[in-house]
Parts: sequence; structure tokens; C-alpha cells
Amino acid sequence: MNSPRHFLRFNDLSKSEIQAVLRRADTLKREQKTGVRHPTLAGKTLGMVFEKSSTRTRVSFEAGIFQLGGTGLFLSPRDTQLGRGEPVEDTARVFSEMIDLVMIRAYDHAMVERFAQFSSIPVINALTDDHHPCQILADIQCFEEHVGPIEGKTVAWIGDGNNMAASWMDAARVMGFQLVLSGPEGYDPDPALLEAYSDCCRIERDPMLAVQGAHCVTTDVWASMGQEEEQKIREKAFADYQVTEAMLDAAHPDVIFLHCLPAHRGEEVNETILDDPRSKVFDEAGNRLHAQKALMEFLVLGERFPEAV
Ligand code: CP
Ligand code: NVA
Repeated sequence: MNSPRHFLRFNDLSKSEIQAVLRRADTLKREQKTGVRHPTLAGKTLGMVFEKSSTRTRVSFEAGIFQLGGTGLFLSPRDTQLGRGEPVEDTARVFSEMIDLVMIRAYDHAMVERFAQFSSIPVINALTDDHHPCQILADIQCFEEHVGPIEGKTVAWIGDGNNMAASWMDAARVMGFQLVLSGPEGYDPDPALLEAYSDCCRIERDPMLAVQGAHCVTTDVWASMGQEEEQKIREKAFADYQVTEAMLDAAHPDVIFLHCLPAHRGEEVNETILDDPRSKVFDEAGNRLHAQKALMEFLVLGERFPEAV
């Protein structure tokens, strides 16, 4: 069996590979806006498995593969055999006979790992309960567009120690920046990650201290998909962690605000911050398209990827 490259966690790519993907993403973004087409994946098919809802991920992958000359197949477990108990190991081998790459949005990260183990085509994690690496790729593209190289900078994560926080932590190590995480006790990221990344990631319970000197303040919903029944408990636990303009005022003068979206105004963000000039959340969302197009090219084209690593 071939051994394809996968992108299940942010640290599945090296720093120089991420940088090459982001340079390519910048080119694709610029040229997309002037109508230049890049049919680099002409004739290729992307399988898109969604166990959970999505707006940005579905639209960016489906439009992205189409813009590269290929086709996307939306595959819901509700109407595939995956939802009726066919093992992922078998599904992975079947897909490998028929299509060229696959992205999976799932609850269980281990399911995506098992799929990748049995797949001879590249597998992309499009969000699991534990990680959301594609979002961080787009976020770093956005950071570098607005602030400059992320190496040596500081990012403040305000809120839940969730899948987004874990992928920011992977990225802090790979890209060489400091990540300050601020949330209530009981909602910290995986202690194993905190221990492994003690040189680049730290907890600061006071959010106003956490943002000091930060070049980026970022947050996410308090209850992720699958945690809906904890909504009320979490609203209480996170009440002191709503991101406001005052937090941006206390950060570095060049600070930007990012949020992967969807946002809940009145919870993790106030009513106005998404419209603050320092908020780049819609650029960030748009970069999902460009960053993932570059990622798909990187994984499928290998040596023929147009950007030198
Ligand atoms: N940020 C993000 O992944 O959004 P969707 O859930 O809409 O795909
Ligand atoms: N942490 C959120 C991210 C949504 C894009 C969730 O998993 O629901």
C-alpha cells in the first residue's frame, strides 16, 4: 500500500511545509481574486465525510476542489453505510480504490486516525472533538497577512480548552510562538499537551493578564458540537471570559481578533467585537478556502507541489 501524507493534526506537517502551503495559499488567494484558475487537481475526487454540521468547512472544501478542477462528494453517515456500522477500516480501503483524497469531520479523533491507517489516499481532519488543524492553517495565514510572521509572537486563547485550543497548541510548537490560554479551572486543555508544550504554552487564569502583549486574541464557542446539553453549566463557568474591546485595548497595539466562527454574540464575544476594525474574522473564514486548496495540492501532488518546501 502507498503511504500517503495525512493532515490529522497541525504537527503532521513541518514548519517549512506549513510555510510552503501558506505561500501557495497566498498565491491562490491573490490569483483567485483576479480570475486566474489553477486546474492542478483536474479529474481528482475529494470525499467529504460529515458526521457533524458545517458551513465554512463544507463550502470551502467543496468550492476549493471544484476551483482546482476536481469534484467533491458530500457523504453524510446518514445516507452511507458508515452510519449503519460499516467499519471505517473497510470504508477507507473502498475509498482508496475510487477517489483521490478524503476529508472527515467526526466526533472521535481515533476514528479518523483508524481511517488514515487503512487509507492509501491522503486524509484531512476537518474537525474532531480533539483537533481542528485546517482552521489553524487559515488562522495563521490571516495572522501573517495582518501582523507579520507568527514566529516569536504571542497569541492569547480565551475560553474553552477545546479542539481549537489543542490545534493552536500544536501550532505554537511547530511555528515557534507563545500561546497563553485563559479559561476557568476544569476546562483546561489536555494536561499531556500542556506538559509536552510547557516551553510555548501556558495557562493564565486572568484574561486581562493573558492578553498583555498579545498580537492576536482569539476565542471559540463555550459549548462545542456534541456538548449542547452542557450549555447552561458552561455559560456560568465561562461568564468571566467574554472577549470585549477592553481586552483588545489591553493587548499589543497591533493586535488582531480571530474567531473560527460560528460565534455566539452575548456569550464568548460581546455584541460588537466582530465589527471592531481589529477583528479579522471574515478574512479568516475566507482563508479556509485558500489554505485548504493549497493543502489539498500539497497532499495530492507531492513532489509536483508548485511551491518549494
Ligand atoms: N470554523 C468552522 O469550521 O466552521 P464550520 O463548522 O461552519 O465548518
Ligand atoms: N469548537 C467548535 C468549533 C466549531 C468550528 C466545535 O467543535 O463545535
